[in-house]
Amino acid sequence: MNKIVSLCKRRGFIFPGSEIYGGMANSWDYGPLGVEMKNNIKQEWWKRFVRQRQDMVGIDAALIMNPKVWEASGHIKNFTDPLIDCKKCKQRFRADRIPDDHAKTCGGVMTGERQFNLMFKTFIGSAEESANIAYFRPETAQAMFVDFKNVLQTTRKRLPFGIAQVGKAFRNEITPGNFIFRTREFEQMEIEYFIREADWKKSFEMWHEEILLWIEHVGIPRKKIHVKEVSAKERAHYSKRTVDFEYPFPFGVGELYGLAYRTDFDLKNHAAASGEDLSYTNLETSEKVVPHVIEPSWGLDRTFLAVLLEAYTEEEAPTGEDGKTETRVVLKLPAWLAPIKVAILPLSKKEALSAVADPLYAELSEHFTCEYDETQSIGKRYRRQDEIGTPYCVTVDFESLEDKAVTIRDRDTMKQERVAISEAKEWLSAHL
Ligand code: GAP
Repeated sequence: MNKIVSLCKRRGFIFPGSEIYGGMANSWDYGPLGVEMKNNIKQEWWKRFVRQRQDMVGIDAALIMNPKVWEASGHIKNFTDPLIDCKKCKQRFRADRIPDDHAKTCGGVMTGERQFNLMFKTFIGSAEESANIAYFRPETAQAMFVDFKNVLQTTRKRLPFGIAQVGKAFRNEITPGNFIFRTREFEQMEIEYFIREADWKKSFEMWHEEILLWIEHVGIPRKKIHVKEVSAKERAHYSKRTVDFEYPFPFGVGELYGLAYRTDFDLKNHAAASGEDLSYTNLETSEKVVPHVIEPSWGLDRTFLAVLLEAYTEEEAPTGEDGKTETRVVLKLPAWLAPIKVAILPLSKKEALSAVADPLYAELSEHFTCEYDETQSIGKRYRRQDEIGTPYCVTVDFESLEDKAVTIRDRDTMKQERVAISEAKEWLSAHL
């Protein structure tokens, strides 16, 4: 885990938030490479689950919604964690997450348990009065229920169909930590899939498999995932069945994604609270039903972390000196996830080489995310690209001026191939 955190900082994937002010506990900023990789995850998810499916549409709703939403959804009453304070060291714990060694190291007397609401409060307008309280959304899901009627009317979707959203969620977590695993501000990729009640088991199984297929797609073997049936006591207040997909993080097995059967809980409550009819009418039979909901929910930051952990590899590689090897760090990311797809590396800063490399960068960067790097030895530049997971390095050397070709190096095999400059784009398209 320390190696990943250090690589993220050193190479510009993730920085500690507000670092020049001494940081802010458990806040993290995605840097130049991090934002590319995070966008790759979001875009691939959107393509796979929204654009390529006929039964799905997307929305992008406001983060701060009418507070009545959170009353109707049950979050004001139920979205709580049990909190306990130590009277001696003044530390605060989630009642079910008190570190094993606390009794030994501190031994302080604990307060009784009290419920702590996880929603972040703010005020709308200039007066900080209770009438103006609003909440940052603790899940993206509610907008799909609140916008259900508008979506139904504008898209004319028939059951079963889903509404998807990607965006930030906020929770005043009592015990954030483990890098980007548990933070107070994070991103979710969620689907509310509307079905007839009779179909809930079939639909649950369909999304169960879709989640596992996605996990494989991001480069995590299915066999590494522990599928946990969440007990009734542990389930969220709206769920009749929940399955957690858990990944073996270095700090312990933890939830990566969740799948819940939310029944008609949300639509029914929003219909009652808003006075709007949120039912669905079957046009053939005129039968009216309140749809039930299956909710697959993906954490974006946890995906990012699991993907990095899975891709991080240390291996022995030849140094170029006879028989000698050194440890090279490689991020063996699936090519679609890599923040930089192609690095263009002129062997030296000489003008003759940039005269070839510059137009090549201009051409390739129209199609792939590219990086241009002309400083340091070529060996060091290859190692740097290996460490950030760049699938291909394109080297422009003095021979390129003669044979109008470049060397393309494969990240994983380190094999090099001479390719005509005029064919470089096609070659890369075929391999990426
Ligand atoms: N709408 C359902 C819902 O929000 P959840 O299990 O509370 O369910 C879904 O959250 C996913 O969001 C989790 O599986 C996890 O990947 C991610 N997540 C939840 N809390 C998080 C936090 N504090 N930091 C980072 N990711 C979090």
